Amino acid sequence: MSEPGRIVTGCLAPHPPHLVYAANPEQNEPRSSGAGAWAPLLEGYARLRESIKDKEYDVILVHTPHWKTCVGHHLLGVPHFEGLSVDPIFPNLFRFHFDLQVDVELAQAIHDEAEKEGLVMNMMRNPEFRVDYGTITSNYLVRPAFDLPIVAISSARTYFDYSDEAGEREMLALGAATKRAVEKTGRKALLLASCSLSHRHFTDEPADPEDPSFEHIYNENQSKWDHHVMNLMQTGQTRRLLEEMPDFIAQANAECRDGSLTWLLGAMDVPNMEAKIHGYGTVIGTGNAIVEWDLAAAEVQA
Ligand SMILES: [Fe+2]
Repeated sequence: MSEPGRIVTGCLAPHPPHLVYAANPEQNEPRSSGAGAWAPLLEGYARLRESIKDKEYDVILVHTPHWKTCVGHHLLGVPHFEGLSVDPIFPNLFRFHFDLQVDVELAQAIHDEAEKEGLVMNMMRNPEFRVDYGTITSNYLVRPAFDLPIVAISSARTYFDYSDEAGEREMLALGAATKRAVEKTGRKALLLASCSLSHRHFTDEPADPEDPSFEHIYNENQSKWDHHVMNLMQTGQTRRLLEEMPDFIAQANAECRDGSLTWLLGAMDVPNMEAKIHGYGTVIGTGNAIVEWDLAAAEVQA
């Protein structure tokens, strides 16, 4: 029998398309001005890439807030997708020609395990499907080559249709199902929760969207919540973070309401290890942290 799989590292990897725009990859049509508004986040992603560059993993799993599905949780279910992904809010910044492979066997295993948890699940079998910019941005910023297969999971509407508490319970169950599927299929997986922290944002932008004089947190309430949450992560208080999540979501308009962070914590079995903060910064006033839970290193230490 093959070796059981494991989650190597889990990351909070937010997806502002601005960061792809600033990096000027050839796949993205708009060109950056180079004015430098988002340097703290770009440097944070560089630190994350450095931290994971020698790790052994064979698939990247991402839970994305920008593939919103009304009936249940969906997974990409076709081995190859290519096309043009456009951010509907920022088409001036993100028109990205994507070409990526999907680990359909693992996606199907997550689907099956999550059904056992009582969740409504669906496989996306349309080969023409336009992959959302959250999936693409987080993957690009963590591993720009797109040379490993991915698994992408949609954001179901449970938080919005029922309650934040019901949403949290579903995402923990989906996380547990993800962990079991990774173990059963023998994968070594890198997990990405593709969401911001606080998410109150400006509704206009300057002539140059990369103008650093425009960029700052929307209000101090958000900043305080973000730093509190990062402190809980850094000190290994993930259980307390989950207890406070509904308040964080309500009071800081957190993008965690799409479930990505809770899914990640659930998949990692709510670890009480200290997370590493690689960077924090704002994009159009939202708070974004790049955070790593290095499970493989923690295992070696133990
Ligand atoms: Fe977003």
